[in-house]
Amino acid sequence: RGTMTVGEMAKALHKDASEVIKKLLFLGVMATINQELDLDAIQLLASDYGVEVELKIPVEEDKFEQFEEKDEEEDLMERPPVVTIMGHVDHGKTTLLDAIRKTNVTEGEAGGITQHIGAYQVETHGKKITFLDTPGHEAFTSMRARGAQVTDITIIVVAADDGVMPQTIEAIAHAKAAKVPIIVAVNKIDKPDSNPDRIKQELTEYELVPEEWGGDTIFCNISAKQRIGLENLLDMILLVAEVQEYKANPNKRARGTVIEAELDKGKGPVARVLIQHGTLKVGDSFVAGVCFGRVRAMVNDKGKKLKEAGPSTPVEITGLTEVPQAGDPFLAFEDERKARAIAEKRAITLRQSEMGANSRVTLDDLYKQI
Ligand code: GTP
Ligand code: MG
Repeated sequence: RGTMTVGEMAKALHKDASEVIKKLLFLGVMATINQELDLDAIQLLASDYGVEVELKIPVEEDKFEQFEEKDEEEDLMERPPVVTIMGHVDHGKTTLLDAIRKTNVTEGEAGGITQHIGAYQVETHGKKITFLDTPGHEAFTSMRARGAQVTDITIIVVAADDGVMPQTIEAIAHAKAAKVPIIVAVNKIDKPDSNPDRIKQELTEYELVPEEWGGDTIFCNISAKQRIGLENLLDMILLVAEVQEYKANPNKRARGTVIEAELDKGKGPVARVLIQHGTLKVGDSFVAGVCFGRVRAMVNDKGKKLKEAGPSTPVEITGLTEVPQAGDPFLAFEDERKARAIAEKRAITLRQSEMGANSRVTLDDLYKQI
């Protein structure tokens, strides 16, 4: 897809077009002055001139913050931490989440593999913790990456009978990129061939060093299956939450993120949303990604009907006109017309960027370094 013409590129580089054409020819690209260069050619050319190219493709940005009411320090109140469980395939993520909820999710799932990001809330010592269940397969990496954006704390599950695996490393990278605290749950310690100390040793290579070895990473030895060490794990989550002081203003319009969404035969489009700021109420108008809606009904993870939901609460809502996408931003509006207009505008912007009309590299996007 074309992004910038040879002429524009020459101008950006402060070079003669003819010189750039010659250089391109030398690099194996035949081009005329009005020809659009692809990203590879631009990159190649730029590096040949010792110039660094920074690509800024103006995709549909999350501009929801601009509509959100600003918070004063005194508006902020404690909210439950949002915890994501990550780790390699079969290391026990679903079993752990399941054990924490004391229900049985693994058996009901197709092939025992988690297909979606589900969200649940549990209560311990009178404090709530919100969990996001993330799938473990490579194919869901991007979804998991989005999962990390809504999360406060990442639990990395490593099977003590297996060790640090590619998706363990990936999970660490995601958590580090999202700058969220990591708690390592060394799982399957009930297995005779498990070796928790080896896991600790292996993880020091990734700068996850346990406190007893002079580091600051919390390690919990657990057995999700035998339900060993789970209380301690929950306590450690609350400890991290206490230190980090997660807060939000519950007294404003809701903002959050779509965790998953689908078309339900009976209910129509259904979205599972994590409320992150404010409070969502039945009857509120909202925008979810490029979709518009009005909360018709709202239930929590236990299937209980709610009239309203505050920060860190995962809810399932109906009343959408379309099915939004996992990871879509969500924002409630007082004004239904405004919500509809914004959803429509976002839909148009998205279509344009998909058609490439927005993905042209502008001159401002080229930075001369030398
Ligand atoms: P994916 O969703 O496929 O990535 O896997 P997962 O990480 O969710 O693993 P899951 O919870 O499905 O567990 C995989 C297998 O390990 C299952 O057979 C579990 O019963 C088993 N398992 C999980 N935790 C433990 C544990 O603490 N001890 C033992 N012995 N087995 C466990
Ligand atoms: Mg699973």
